[in-house]
Amino acid sequence: MKIVHTITELRAHLTQFKHPAFVPTMGNLHEGHLALIAQAKPLGDVTVASIFVNRLQFLPHEDFDTYPRTWDSDCAKLQAAGCDVLFAPNEQELYPEPQTFKVHPPTELADILEGFFRPGFFVGVCTVVMKLFACVQPRVAVFGKKDYQQLMIVRRMVQQFALPIEIVGGETTRAPNGLALSSRNGYLSESERAEAVQLSMALKGLAAVLKAGATDIAVLEAQAMKSLTARGWQPNYLVVRRRSDLQAPTPSDLLGEALVVLGAAKIGATRLIDNFEV
Ligand code: PAJ
Repeated sequence: MKIVHTITELRAHLTQFKHPAFVPTMGNLHEGHLALIAQAKPLGDVTVASIFVNRLQFLPHEDFDTYPRTWDSDCAKLQAAGCDVLFAPNEQELYPEPQTFKVHPPTELADILEGFFRPGFFVGVCTVVMKLFACVQPRVAVFGKKDYQQLMIVRRMVQQFALPIEIVGGETTRAPNGLALSSRNGYLSESERAEAVQLSMALKGLAAVLKAGATDIAVLEAQAMKSLTARGWQPNYLVVRRRSDLQAPTPSDLLGEALVVLGAAKIGATRLIDNFEV
C-alpha cells in the first residue's frame, strides 16, 4: 500500500489510474470501515482510503482532541484489506490557512436530526468531503449507511454540484449482538457496552411495528424515547422519517413511502447513533 501525506504526492501517484474508488475515514478503523474498502475494491482501478480527523466537524465541547488516533493498526488493517493508496494529510496540509470557503448544505437536510444536536456538523463534513474529493478526484466513493444523514447529504451535494462521482452506500456492519460498530464504542465501559445494543434494539423494534402496519408514529416514538430514558440513557431523538428527504411521513406516506427509523442517544458520556431502513 502506498502511503502519501501530501496532495502533490497523491496527485502524482494517481495520474496512472482512470477510475479511483475512494473511502474517506477519520481512522480508528474497524470492520465497518474495512467492509467499505472491500465494497470499493471492485468499483475502481485503484482503491484509495483517507484518514483525517476533521476539526471542522467537531463542536468546541466535542471529542476532537481525544478522538482515537491509531495510526499503526489502521495502516496494517488497510493493507490487509487490499487498499492500494492511503492519503493521510495533516492539518497543515489540508487546511494550510483557515478554511473560510465552506460548503453549506441546505437547512432542511442539514439542520435536522444530527445537525440539530450538532450545529455546523454537516458544514464541516461537506467542506472536508468536497476538499478530499478535489484531492483524490475519485470516480466512485463509498459511504456507510451507519451515518445515514451524512450519506444522503453527500449524495445531494454531489448531485447539485454535478460532480462526476458515483456515491455508493454500504450496509451497517454490526457486532454479533447487533450493536453498530463505531469508533466511539471504544469510549464505552464494559457495562455501557453491554447496554449499548439497546439503542439498535429500540430502533429495530420501531421498524418492526411499522412494518406490521402501525400508524401511530408519534406515540411509538415517544414510547421508544421513554423506555431508553428509563434504562438510564439520554436520548436525543428516536424518529421515523421518509428515506427520500428525512422529513416526517404524512399519514398517506405510511401506505407506500420507504421509511427509515433513526436514533441518537447518550449512554454515560458517549453519544451513539444508529438507524434501520423499514
Ligand atoms: P468515520 O466515522 O471514520 O466513518 C468513515 C466511513 O465509515 C463513513 O462513511 C461511515 O458511515 C462509515 N462507517 C462507520 N461505521 C460504520 C459501520 N458500522 N458500518 C458501515 N459503515 C460504517 O464519517 C466520517 O468518518 C467522517 O464524517 C468523514 C466522512 C470521513 C468526513 O470527515
